[in-house]
This record gives sequence, C-alpha cells and structure tokens, in this order.
Amino acid sequence: MTFTRDSLPTEIQQMLNRRDASTTEDSYLIGEGGYTPDDESILVDCVIALSLGKNVLLKGPTGSGKTKLAETLSSIFQQPMYSVNCSVDMDAEALLGFKTIEQENGQSGIKFVEGPVIQSMKKGRFLYIDELIWLNLKLSQF
Ligand SMILES: Nc1ncnc2c1ncn2[C@@H]1O[C@H](COP(=O)(O)OP(=O)(O)OP(=O)(O)O)[C@@H](O)[C@H]1O
Ligand SMILES: [Mg+2]
Repeated sequence: MTFTRDSLPTEIQQMLNRRDASTTEDSYLIGEGGYTPDDESILVDCVIALSLGKNVLLKGPTGSGKTKLAETLSSIFQQPMYSVNCSVDMDAEALLGFKTIEQENGQSGIKFVEGPVIQSMKKGRFLYIDELIWLNLKLSQF
C-alpha cells in the first residue's frame, strides 16, 4: 500500500495540519510521494524525527527506495525538497557557500554566494544529500 499523510496516526496528522506552510514558492520541488514501506514505522519515525528538526540518515542498496522515501516525506509535509549530490570533490564551499568579488556600478565588493545547506536552512526546506558517503568526515559532522 502506498503511504500518504492519511496513513499516519491521527495525532501526527493534526500536528502536520497545524504546521502547513502557506508559501507557494518552490512548490514545484514538492515530492510526488508513492513510497511503499515494508514497515510503516519507518515513515512514522522519519516524520517524527523531521518534525523535531532532526536529520534522517537513509542507508540501503541502490534501488531500495531512499530517494522515493525522501520525496514521499516532502509530499507528506508539503515541503519543497532541495537536492545535492555528493562526490569525492565535494567541499565546504560547495555545500555551505563561498565568498566572491562582485562588480557593481564600477565598485567591487565581497558577496557571499549561499550553498544549498544555507539556502535550505534559511527557507526551512528539506535538503536531500545524496551519496553522503563521499562527504569527508569533517564536513559530515557539521
Ligand atoms: N518501497 C518502495 N516504494 C515505492 N517505490 C519504490 C520502493 N523501493 C523502490 N522503489 C522504486 O524503485 C526505483 C528506485 O528507487 P530509488 O531511486 O528511490 O532508490 P535509491 O535507494 O534512491 O537508489 P540509489 O541508491 O541508486 O539512489 C524508483 O522508481 C522507486 O519508485
Ligand atoms: Mg537515490
């Protein structure tokens, strides 16, 4: 059975209804849903963890539905999801952001270009970090 918000315990549904965002910005990044859990507690645990502002680490072989699960959580929360794909050369600048020099009206100034972590934190979006295993230890402890 495909899991939707209606499959959750009533208390959690009520909590989600209370926190529904009114913004339509980035709504095209809301996942479609469609994840079918082997055990429904997986979804319930994820919803509770995310509601508490915690991160969720998904671990499993390719094709096991990690991305589908994340998209379904985005759908349940009606919260847009930003995605970033890690590789061996992923560094702090790519994830957090970096400073650059910008020319404006003949004047040069320093500008901070926000990375996906900062953007999603500021807007309260979900951030799906794929292939987290490639992130170096120092960064993943952030
Ligand atoms: N439990 C599930 N419920 C619904 N669809 C699933 C499930 N498991 C896998 N799928 C389907 O299988 C395909 C692969 O799933 P998905 O891309 O989420 O896997 P993944 O774990 O993210 O793999 P990868 O590690 O390669 O990124 C998708 O089309 C997805 O819809
Ligand atoms: Mg995936």
